[in-house]
Amino acid sequence: MTRVFVTRALPGGSGPGSPLARLRDAVDEVDVWEDEAPPSPAALLARSEDCDGLLSMLTERVDAALLDARPGLRVVANMAVGYDNVDVPACSARGVLVTNTPGVLTDATADMTWALLLAAARRLPEGRAAIEAGEWGPWHPSWLLGSAVTGRTLGIVGPGRIGAAVARRAQGFQMRVLYSGRSAKADFPGEFVPLDDLLARSDFVSIHVPLTEATRGMCDASFFARMQPHAVFVNTARGPVVDQGALTDALRADLIAGAGLDVMTPEPLPPDHPLLHAPRLVLAPHLGSATLETRTQMAHLAVDGLLAALTGERPVHLLNPDALTPDTREPDALDVTAATNDTARRRGRP
Ligand code: DGY
Repeated sequence: MTRVFVTRALPGGSGPGSPLARLRDAVDEVDVWEDEAPPSPAALLARSEDCDGLLSMLTERVDAALLDARPGLRVVANMAVGYDNVDVPACSARGVLVTNTPGVLTDATADMTWALLLAAARRLPEGRAAIEAGEWGPWHPSWLLGSAVTGRTLGIVGPGRIGAAVARRAQGFQMRVLYSGRSAKADFPGEFVPLDDLLARSDFVSIHVPLTEATRGMCDASFFARMQPHAVFVNTARGPVVDQGALTDALRADLIAGAGLDVMTPEPLPPDHPLLHAPRLVLAPHLGSATLETRTQMAHLAVDGLLAALTGERPVHLLNPDALTPDTREPDALDVTAATNDTARRRGRP
């Protein structure tokens, strides 16, 4: 008996060929958390009892305590490209495979980066607020002047897939692109420079690094102080990469001209959070990959990862090859139930 817990209703419906239908066709029991809010840690623990697989979202913390309580787990398929919510080394140590969903959300997230960049550069939220407040007076040549975008310099911090897609879009705006990261990339459409240079020369700075202990809080007071006063900052990566207090101070002190955030800390941001009072800040509620097409593809990829692991195949987007056992390196079972039962028997489960 194969059992999988899916921590949120999957996009794409439940019709034939949908991610959920594919899962239900292949797995004996698929339990779906139907609430809009994520399961609490206690609910996650309870509902993952006897599970072989977990299809999780970025909102679920998969840590050593959960893994120890659920020794039958063989795979965590995280429906996100980011996986800072999963303790991957702890999974590896217990032979639990972890997969993510890269690639399919690259364009949607790059589009969102540009939506924020343009909205912040051209001060769209302030314009709307002025209309709503009845402050839209007669046309004035100096009212709500924003920053030009075309022909200027864009700095990309983190030259991964999404950073590259953001850089490619900049070509349409005839921009010079600078980028920094651990090393230069032969095919990245831009000039590799040290971070200091990037901050000193860019008119727009966009963050595309994963959240790790090295990147946590990297956009701090010194980071913003090194940006140009007319520059705009954008983050569509992960909230904790930014010291939000430092960002708020930088905006208040006019150290930078504006900012756009799709990710923040905490998420969801409470309606009375101080960040909401920061000037010239455009906010979106973590919508980077939020198109029906993209989210459906992410759900399919997560299902692919989960089913591959359960059938003993090597998942395409496997994050921890060190967790592979001789069984999963050389699969011979293609039937999920058979594979899972075999594993259960090996582990002494009924
Ligand atoms: C991710 O996939 O990591 C995004 O933040 C959500 O789509």
